[in-house]
Amino acid sequence: MAQKIIIDTDPGVDDAMAIFFALRSPELDVIGLTTIFGNVHTHLATVNALRLLDIAGRPDIPVAHGADDPLAVPFGGPVPFVHGDDGQGNVNLPPSPRKAVNQSAAQFIVEQVMAHPGEITLVPVGPLTNIALALRLEPRIAQHTKQVVLMGGNAIVPGNATPCAEANIHNDPEAADVVFGAPWDVVMVGLDVTHNVYMEADDVAEYARIGNPMTEHVAAILPHYRKYFGDNYGIDGIYVHDSSAIAYLLDPTLFETIRRPVRVDCTHDIGRGKTWPALGERVDAPWQNRPDVTICTKVDSQRLVQLELNRMRGV
Ligand code: BDR
Ligand code: CA
Repeated sequence: MAQKIIIDTDPGVDDAMAIFFALRSPELDVIGLTTIFGNVHTHLATVNALRLLDIAGRPDIPVAHGADDPLAVPFGGPVPFVHGDDGQGNVNLPPSPRKAVNQSAAQFIVEQVMAHPGEITLVPVGPLTNIALALRLEPRIAQHTKQVVLMGGNAIVPGNATPCAEANIHNDPEAADVVFGAPWDVVMVGLDVTHNVYMEADDVAEYARIGNPMTEHVAAILPHYRKYFGDNYGIDGIYVHDSSAIAYLLDPTLFETIRRPVRVDCTHDIGRGKTWPALGERVDAPWQNRPDVTICTKVDSQRLVQLELNRMRGV
């Protein structure tokens, strides 16, 4: 039976790629999208989630609108220089005829998890506010969620939002610290691996060649995103963030992992948003009584990229 997942997302160019990758994978049953600020404001994330499902021909999948701001401070603002003013590479899609469900993202997550205990995997690929709010609403979801496979964080490599912190965690460190500390099975697919998953120019060009509505949309939105990587990392291609979390669900043997408790820097100083695994022999007080998190440390980039492209080809 296909694995039921809820993708919590801030679409976002790489979010769109990840959502389509999941929808094209028969092992996965996407039972809903929940939206969050990050790459764009939450209202645009919701509009984009609905538009992406229209493109995929999946208007049956519900979208639930999420939090507009982080737990502790106002949202710092979107990143149009990465994802475009519309979050989709400035292609300005028409609005969807559909609307979000009449439930918040946190309520939707709680309702679904409690209705299908042990069956649902949460896949957050944006800031973790909705997941922390769902835990606050119903702490028992920690026992009843199958797994949380999230894109975010940096264990031993630099950040991308700041020298210290990865963007999703930096956008709501307080929420991330709650999620890493709850008694459930969390997998962190962070920059330690995603900055090593490289789609080169020819892989990117493959999206235009495959020629279905989803790959055509990705081909249209990638140039803006690709320019960001060229300007900032000097690469002729892109790093694969959110799709790496989907790839973990499909084939965890793509990754090497370690298991350690994780804390998040919630200070309002230069380290804000840094994820700190207890890496040494000692587990000092701040990490004690916290569950081990599965942290991805290495990845087979070529195999992952081919898996994603094959799924988009329908193989
Ligand atoms: C993460 O931040 C967002 O810009 C991407 O969509 C991804 O989820 C990478 O740090
Ligand atoms: Ca994202």
